[in-house]
Amino acid sequence: MVTILKGNIISSEKLDKISIYEKSFLVAEDGVIVGIYKSLPKKYSKYKYIDYKNDLIIQSFSDMHIHAPQYAMLGMGMDLQLLDWLNTYTFPTEREFKDPKLARKIYKDLAKQLISNGTTRVCMFSSLHTDSTIVLMEELEKVGISGYVGKVNMDRNGAPGLEETTEESIKETNRWLKECKKFKLIKPIITPRFIPSCTDKLMEELGNIANENNLPIQSHLSENLGEIAWVKELHPECEEYWDAYAKYNMWNNKTLMAHCVHSSTRERKAIKDAGVYVVHCPSSNEDLTSGYAQIRKMLDEGINVVIGSDVAGGDHLSMFDNVAATIRASKARNIIDNYKTPFLTVEEAFYLATSAANKFFDEKPGLAKGNKLDVIVINDDKLPRVRKLSIKERFERTIYLREKDAIKAV
Ligand code: GUN
Ligand code: FE
Repeated sequence: MVTILKGNIISSEKLDKISIYEKSFLVAEDGVIVGIYKSLPKKYSKYKYIDYKNDLIIQSFSDMHIHAPQYAMLGMGMDLQLLDWLNTYTFPTEREFKDPKLARKIYKDLAKQLISNGTTRVCMFSSLHTDSTIVLMEELEKVGISGYVGKVNMDRNGAPGLEETTEESIKETNRWLKECKKFKLIKPIITPRFIPSCTDKLMEELGNIANENNLPIQSHLSENLGEIAWVKELHPECEEYWDAYAKYNMWNNKTLMAHCVHSSTRERKAIKDAGVYVVHCPSSNEDLTSGYAQIRKMLDEGINVVIGSDVAGGDHLSMFDNVAATIRASKARNIIDNYKTPFLTVEEAFYLATSAANKFFDEKPGLAKGNKLDVIVINDDKLPRVRKLSIKERFERTIYLREKDAIKAV
């Protein structure tokens, strides 16, 4: 099938600069991008196209760290720091997802909200419940979202009704992986919650499962000072937090580590050397007062950085808001660093929420040939203005501000 969209196309091909194709055609075949053209090649002249006139057509977002069950507590309980927050609010919420019917209801709504806000790819944590995790994967596929979902593993330090035995955790992971074979867009990712949630035996098994099946891995790293001290107690043999993942073969270029707020020079070097992805979660890091990650420094060091909403540690599901939060967090960092660390521009933060994630999915940056056709169409006619704005100005503004119904299509 041929899809042709016409409009003002914005493609984030480089970290620091968007490319603008005014009144151009974006052509895809079977959902895969063929090219962007100023005038439509002859080959496509017999096809109908959708003319979005003066609207913006931008890349849609990848939310690279989000907890599906926590959508049910979005905007609640942000008066605590991480470890107390988990015990007081999060674990009791996740426990309810033992019920696949409840999961169906919440996850259907979540999938709809994600797609209507322009999030077309995810790396997502479910809860520890296998059947509800399958429900989540079904609901995401139904709306056309692609990416990875993980059944969470936790065999220690959970809560009443929210913990597995080591054997259960392994057995359920294997059962889940078998059931995952039916999905096309959503694939499994191995998901040890974080070091305090998983015994050494479980970590060892999960590392083996990931490596034998060539599966990616997602977890949390150096988010909160209390958490880091706890990991040190649990793993006195490890010099730093990350060593506890590396020890179990969970440290490679298919590993996503959320937060990395307090990562040392040594930890950042290990991240860079292994090609591990840092998932920056700026909303969450403010909401749970975890701190301000050193994103500029990480980028300068050549680390792969992508963005996550971390719902519901983060209070924003929309990645537009998380791009704005990324910029604001980097400005806080700029202030903390006596104005010495340059903050991120709109273009840079947008790149991290779109093209930087493409690499994790083995795609090229921008709306490149061969990439999936994942775009958002935005109409900004109703926003106040006193003069004609450039496309770049309209793009920048769109990140911060959109009228109701501004998103015309995803
Ligand atoms: N660390 C372990 N579990 C969680 C979680 O659910 N959210 C966040 N932000 N950090 C975690
Ligand atoms: Fe998280």
